[in-house]
Amino acid sequence: MARGRYLGRIPLRTLPPELAERYLLEWHPRRLALEPGSFPQLSSPAIFGNELPLEVEIGAGTGEFALSLAEADPAANYLALELSNRSAHWAAWLAAEAGLPNLKVLRADFKLVGPLLPAAGWRRAYLHFPDPQHKPADAKRIIFNQGFLDAMARALQPGGELSVVSDAPAFFLQMLELAEGDGRFAKAHPERYLEGFEPEVKSRFQQIWERKGRTPRQFVLTRL
Ligand SMILES: C[S@@+](CC[C@H](N)C(=O)[O-])C[C@H]1O[C@@H](n2cnc3c(N)ncnc32)[C@H](O)[C@@H]1O
Repeated sequence: MARGRYLGRIPLRTLPPELAERYLLEWHPRRLALEPGSFPQLSSPAIFGNELPLEVEIGAGTGEFALSLAEADPAANYLALELSNRSAHWAAWLAAEAGLPNLKVLRADFKLVGPLLPAAGWRRAYLHFPDPQHKPADAKRIIFNQGFLDAMARALQPGGELSVVSDAPAFFLQMLELAEGDGRFAKAHPERYLEGFEPEVKSRFQQIWERKGRTPRQFVLTRL
């Protein structure tokens, strides 16, 4: 599946350099792979220059959800991490238009930022509507696997949370089953999972799929 296929064609909105400098970090995959130590840690002090709690959306798409979180909570920092150039630039435009000091977009491959994850440095992580696997060749792109849980176990502070949402039922159950077998996390809710997902602001992707009649499901894990 093409990356970001379900998001439709995202127009390229290139940020002027003075705004890009403030709202958009672009980390090249080759350099990330070869010289991870030349990049800052994904922590509040290193990215935002302060000690506010950090929340990260992984695969943030065009950034509507991360923007809504940052607007609602100025006492925390929000990092929208996104692989696609067009989506990351769109999200950075939203951040620049809102002019928030607590939101930045990082264009990077999450699979390459492992060495930059701070120990117990994140308050919350969101993996919402990750691209599912449709064919064997997609497997290498799947974000939620054992390595992802290891990364979350490292980055989340004790009591920190990981929210996972998907509209693809079989894929959702695969992720849920993997999470349920990991003793480093507990569910943050008594239900096995939550039916529906009703944030203050729904992302472009969520709106598209809900219009087609798909109901998202969510589970939230707490780092023990
Ligand atoms: C279906 S979209 C969901 C976007 C957003 N989370 C939402 O709720 O609307 C999945 C996003 O994950 C991004 N993505 C896929 N693999 C990624 C990776 N390895 N690192 C960062 N982003 C990734 C895609 O580019 C795409 O924008």
